[in-house]
Amino acid sequence: MDVTLLKKLQAFILIVLMIPLCASAGLFTKDIHVHMTNNLGVGTILYLHCLRNSKEMGHQQVPYNWTCQWKFEEERMEFSTLVCEANLKGAKQLKFVAYNQSEDLCRDSCGWKFTQHGAFQFENGEWIFRYTWRH
Ligand SMILES: *[C@@H]1O[C@H](CO)[C@@H](O)[C@H](O)[C@H]1NC(C)=O
Ligand SMILES: *[C@@H]1O[C@H](CO)[C@@H](O)[C@H](O)[C@H]1NC(C)=O
Repeated sequence: MDVTLLKKLQAFILIVLMIPLCASAGLFTKDIHVHMTNNLGVGTILYLHCLRNSKEMGHQQVPYNWTCQWKFEEERMEFSTLVCEANLKGAKQLKFVAYNQSEDLCRDSCGWKFTQHGAFQFENGEWIFRYTWRH
């Protein structure tokens, strides 16, 4: 074996060995933060329930003018989604896609706010109306 081939082989082995280390160090993963704010009105509690890739993420109760956060780590090419249900004590509800990696609308930090009109998503510095409440 000549020296250059040996060097190439060494480099290759090094790269192969590095991959699991990099993966655990976050090179192939990123942290996603999804914020949800209750702007519904004084005394109205926002109830949230989310599933990430169909896996349970739990429930949160958000008082008026408060913001909650859903945090998770995803693989770069995982195409993960965060699908949530919002409701106001059963009176009004809506189901929404809070995060969809394939569409990448909000990148690493996604913002939602809820008013009596429905759900708005923060995109390019603006609140965009996305979902209406169902009764
Ligand atoms: C809720 O937030 C808005 C906007 O920041 C503010 O004007 C209002 O006074 C707040 N209301 C309460 C009850 O905290
Ligand atoms: C996420 O976006 C992709 C691409 O637009 C779409 O095919 C998929 O149905 C979306 N997922 C959800 C849960 O909306």
